[in-house]
Amino acid sequence: MLRDKRIILGVTGGIAAYKAVELLRLLTKADAEVHVIMTRAAQEFVTPLTFQTLSCNPVHTELFNLISEQEIGHISLADRADLFVIAPATANFVGKIANGIADDMLTTTVMATKAPVLISPAMNVNMYTNPVYKENEAKLRALGYAFVAPEKGLLACGWEGDGKLAAPETIFEAVVAALTPQDLKGQTILVTAGPTREEIDPVRYVSNHSSGKMGYALARTASRRGARVILVSGPVRLAAPAGVELVPVESAREMREAVLARVPECTAIIKAAAVADYRPAERRDVKIKKKAETLSLDLVKNPDILAELGALKKRPFLVGFAAETGNLKEFAAKKLREKQADLIVANDVSQADAGFNVETNRALLLFRDGREMECPLMSKDELAGVILNQMAAHLP
Ligand code: PMT
Repeated sequence: MLRDKRIILGVTGGIAAYKAVELLRLLTKADAEVHVIMTRAAQEFVTPLTFQTLSCNPVHTELFNLISEQEIGHISLADRADLFVIAPATANFVGKIANGIADDMLTTTVMATKAPVLISPAMNVNMYTNPVYKENEAKLRALGYAFVAPEKGLLACGWEGDGKLAAPETIFEAVVAALTPQDLKGQTILVTAGPTREEIDPVRYVSNHSSGKMGYALARTASRRGARVILVSGPVRLAAPAGVELVPVESAREMREAVLARVPECTAIIKAAAVADYRPAERRDVKIKKKAETLSLDLVKNPDILAELGALKKRPFLVGFAAETGNLKEFAAKKLREKQADLIVANDVSQADAGFNVETNRALLLFRDGREMECPLMSKDELAGVILNQMAAHLP
């Protein structure tokens, strides 16, 4: 995902420096080429060897080191970077950059670069709320430096409040977004994901094998491309992608309410959830006891959320999915027509490498205007990108 991207990871001296190791791991796992610059104080918390081993590149610590300046000097690092990310960034670092002080390898290189700079501060809450710090941050923001806000929580110094370094996953998402064209900025996209659960009694339910992976990939990719994303999700084992507004639901009726309430805010809705078509006619208040050899359950139809959205007079761009085990095109075309969607993503869920609970998918895209598009086997993230590309031209 970050192949061919050269990222400079600046680490300054705070207890959160150890979390920069996890950020480095996420960046290299995404194929980025990472060069680490550490301040002297940062080396009191984590050794350069740790970053060197994980980045597979020499770590830069000294401005006046003859060998490293000859091999790859600070100006060359500054020129060749696609992005700088400083995590953790101390109040001292922010203050220096805001006031033009370049007195070590990191501040000098940051001052010399024309690449975007992403600053992820971490410090004591009183330092973070100090007007001097706030003024420095505001000055840098106005100059185009981007910030990843710290989290609230128990700080290493014992105080509670803002100042905890953002989670490595959150910083990683900000890095990816900073390197991704923001072609969906201004859009509000609602994605439904996962299964619904229809309760039989307090301990049992009717559901399906949806893991949420396809819907979460759509939500993550749309958010990285700048959209505001509302993710209405049935029960899954996935963490919500950073920056996405999660609305957890259980049953089809809860999902319907959550979706319909948000329609006026949305420019597009993507229904990747596997909504249970039927629910038990009656939900028992106490556990059904095991007695007879057989047990029959009466099921009643759930509301069809996609069809209801399709019938709205004024509605956002509507994408439905079709999970089929045969006659893919015929059944999907029927759903496109009957549910009045703008696009149906049909996947053959009888194949082991596509559909439910796997990392990959292949699909046939059917458009309202009669166009078709075959998508061969690819990761769910890649398919999400293809679907969003197809939608982008139709969004306001
Ligand atoms: O979650 P994963 O493990 O990653 O698996 C991905 C997936 C297979 C669940 C996904 O790719 C997919 O196909 N989702 C749709 C599953 C489904 O319910 O298909 P369907 O053909 O039964 O429904 C057609 C469309 O109507 C879907 O957009 C569905 O969300 C919607 N629907 C269905 C029933 C209902 N009562 N209300 C609905 O809105």
